[in-house]
Amino acid sequence: MQIGPHQLANRLILAPMAGVSDKPFRNLCRAQGAGLAVSEMISSNAALRGSRKSVLRLDHSGEPGPIAVQILGADPQAMAEAARINVGEGADIIDINMGCPAKKVCKVAAGSALLRDERLVARILEAVVAAVRVPVTLKIRTGWDPANRNALAIGRIAEESGIQALTIHGRTRACGFSGNAEYQTIALVKQALSIPVIANGDIDSGEKALEVLQQTGADGLMIGRAARGRPWIFAEIDAYLRTGRTPLPVHPG
Ligand SMILES: Cc1cc2nc3c(=O)[nH]c(=O)nc-3n(C[C@H](O)[C@H](O)[C@H](O)COP(=O)(O)O)c2cc1C
Repeated sequence: MQIGPHQLANRLILAPMAGVSDKPFRNLCRAQGAGLAVSEMISSNAALRGSRKSVLRLDHSGEPGPIAVQILGADPQAMAEAARINVGEGADIIDINMGCPAKKVCKVAAGSALLRDERLVARILEAVVAAVRVPVTLKIRTGWDPANRNALAIGRIAEESGIQALTIHGRTRACGFSGNAEYQTIALVKQALSIPVIANGDIDSGEKALEVLQQTGADGLMIGRAARGRPWIFAEIDAYLRTGRTPLPVHPG
């Protein structure tokens, strides 16, 4: 799969997970077969820029490219500035978080709360795309709640704003992490857009990965929780998609 000028080794991507997908874990997952690994979210709030957490999250020394960094915020100019800073620190791809359901994030109208304000979404995406030369991608949920599944409208705005790939987690903000992810909305968006669409939610095996690809027609798959404690899941899924078999786990020693 291709994101802007970057041809990925395969279509499997480690999900951004705050507190989990730090540099050592990203490197581990890349070494174990992930085609791309997205950083933990980095706030665009300038007041947080000097904090130990933010400084650590800016460091990409020794990380294999392409380096994908996720930014979070609700102010178009602050997001544009955060994108520029992260490109200066080595980001090859900027990902925008509009999927985070956390209360402390939604309270400041960032993350998935943005899905309720399509005009602001457009302003943020346009500002970030205009600010950097690297490809900008977007990560969303299917909508705010089951009665407001506006992933298709957001996807169209994304494409028009110059976003180069769209990841969709098959749950609404209101769903949190409960129930099962649904893939019909992802299939609908994939059919309507020409940019690459990446399906996300509950993918934990080769069989499930194949099922999601078949149901959605997605170009790529993003895997989060199933990689925790099991980074080799990327190699397993990649092998399954190529051969129809999951290789036996290799235990060193
Ligand atoms: C501990 C944890 C932290 C997360 N942090 C982020 C984040 O920083 N940015 C983001 O877009 N999504 C975040 N997510 C959501 C994941 O990227 C992903 O969309 C979600 O877990 C569904 O995929 P999965 O079923 O493969 O885990 C987080 C999820 C978990 C479990």
